[in-house]
Amino acid sequence: MKILVATEKPFAAVAVNGIRKVAEDAGYELCLLEKYTEKQQLLDAVADADALIVRSDIVDAQVLDAAKNLKIVVRAGAGYDNLDLDACTAHGVIAENTPGQNSNAVAELVFGMTVMAVRNMYNGTSGSELKGKTLGIHAFGQVGRNVARIAKGFGMEVSALDPYCPDEAMIEAGVKPVHSVEDLYRGNQFVSLHIPATAETKKSVGYDLITLMPKGGVLINTARKEVIDEEGLARALEARPDIKYVADIKPDSAAELKENFGDRVFFTPKKMGAQTAEANINAGIAAANQCVAFLRDGIDRFRLNK
Ligand code: 3PG
Repeated sequence: MKILVATEKPFAAVAVNGIRKVAEDAGYELCLLEKYTEKQQLLDAVADADALIVRSDIVDAQVLDAAKNLKIVVRAGAGYDNLDLDACTAHGVIAENTPGQNSNAVAELVFGMTVMAVRNMYNGTSGSELKGKTLGIHAFGQVGRNVARIAKGFGMEVSALDPYCPDEAMIEAGVKPVHSVEDLYRGNQFVSLHIPATAETKKSVGYDLITLMPKGGVLINTARKEVIDEEGLARALEARPDIKYVADIKPDSAAELKENFGDRVFFTPKKMGAQTAEANINAGIAAANQCVAFLRDGIDRFRLNK
């Protein structure tokens, strides 16, 4: 049986070695398709794969049609908006993710970008500090919890909004529960986004919420570009010259935003929140173990398409 790792954005080599060991120790063959530039390369590579490990790579009906032997696809990471779950189900393919495995890496980048924003993109002018400032965490999942932990080290006052998380869990983590999205943005100078991209959240953060932020507001997005209403963001930045937007996911209107708002906006060239050796090892090896667990023992604990 064959496990294919198809990553347009490759894992660190040390993680690939670990994935290979898990596959080979279980008696499976490991194939690698990295840095591919054409979808056809993926379509060719999946033709004889029994299991597929991806990152943000799109797995849609076309890929599944081409993957005649495929039994399981594992998204080595948290967000699975790149997997067409209905198409997986229709093709009889189990879809899984590896929740939590790369969350510390993403959370650390939140602060890498936040410090950069308050130190004026390291341009040498006088900036400000995070200690004593308010941080609102928009969705208190695995990344949000790591963000809270690190924020407390900075001496920030942390609040969070998450209708799926009980207040007690936030309180236990030293985080103040907030119950309306307006209160989250109104009450926090810094807001860190951790909502998944779904039909419900798409374009859900725009002018109205962003302009509620207190003076010197910084919106940090290490989630997905789709959750931002880019036209509303541009209007908010126009109306509020004190506000900054830093993102690990380049918006569609990146060039325009950069031209109009200069150093008040920042985008990483390629999504790199989970781009650490540790996160690659954690998520990659978890994905490999999940493939083996399913192919060998039929275990599908992290199944998404129930
Ligand atoms: C995730 O959802 O796990 C992160 O966004 C990481 O995505 P990546 O594997 O494409 O870096």
